[in-house]
Amino acid sequence: MRAILVSKWTKVAVFVICLIPFADLIWRIIKSDLGANPVEFLQHATGDWTLRFLVFTLCITPFRKLFKLPDLIRFRRILALFAFFYVSLHFLTYLGPDQAFDLAAMWKDVAKRPFITVGFAAFVSLIPLAVTSTAGWIRRIGGKRWQMLHRLIYFAAVCGVIHYYWLVKSDVRKPLFYGTLVAILLLWRLGDWFFKRRSQAPVRVAAPHVSMNG
Ligand code: HEM
Repeated sequence: MRAILVSKWTKVAVFVICLIPFADLIWRIIKSDLGANPVEFLQHATGDWTLRFLVFTLCITPFRKLFKLPDLIRFRRILALFAFFYVSLHFLTYLGPDQAFDLAAMWKDVAKRPFITVGFAAFVSLIPLAVTSTAGWIRRIGGKRWQMLHRLIYFAAVCGVIHYYWLVKSDVRKPLFYGTLVAILLLWRLGDWFFKRRSQAPVRVAAPHVSMNG
């Protein structure tokens, strides 16, 4: 298993697989196969894939630990960058067809509609993560600070779920499904942190018993 995970071809394969939803959208655009409302189709497809890639990224750490596969870490960056790629497309389908690239109108909408506000907050919080995703940035800002900054992905995932929950009109099953996945993945981290802290707590050493008899 390790040989597969560390192979450079597996990384290439994961990259190609991550591009499939994008290729599918391009294919549908070429074939004019986007249904009755093409903009809505693109917004929904890119929104769905953003949330899925955020969940895939959050799965890496628990899977590494639970299945004892530390090399899974090699795929975390690709998955997170694809989440950013799909949210950028998602944002463009909003900024272009919905807002006609009018930034003033966009700001008004961000301030007015709560589901857009949280979606926008999620998008903005992913920008520093995408920018600092390279090894050079880890060196520049230091591993500890880099890790702290990259916890913003938790905020993005939670905001993404709220955004989805608020925008659906009646059937909330899908947002609740994603909400449950994100909740499990975040609670697992909390549990892991808690147990690590407990196991690292200094053990009180009992004072040596000094016998008067030597
Ligand atoms: C991490 C950030 C984001 C995530 C995870 C996300 C996710 C989603 C999802 C899952 C959907 C619904 C897809 C479906 O119905 O199948 C959606 C729809 C939508 N999102 Fe986002 N989104 C994000 C950011 C944004 C941003 C930044 C904007 C715009 C500023 C935005 C605007 C919209 C709009 C306009 C819709 C369609 C609403 C409708 O059909 O009424 N989203 N998003």
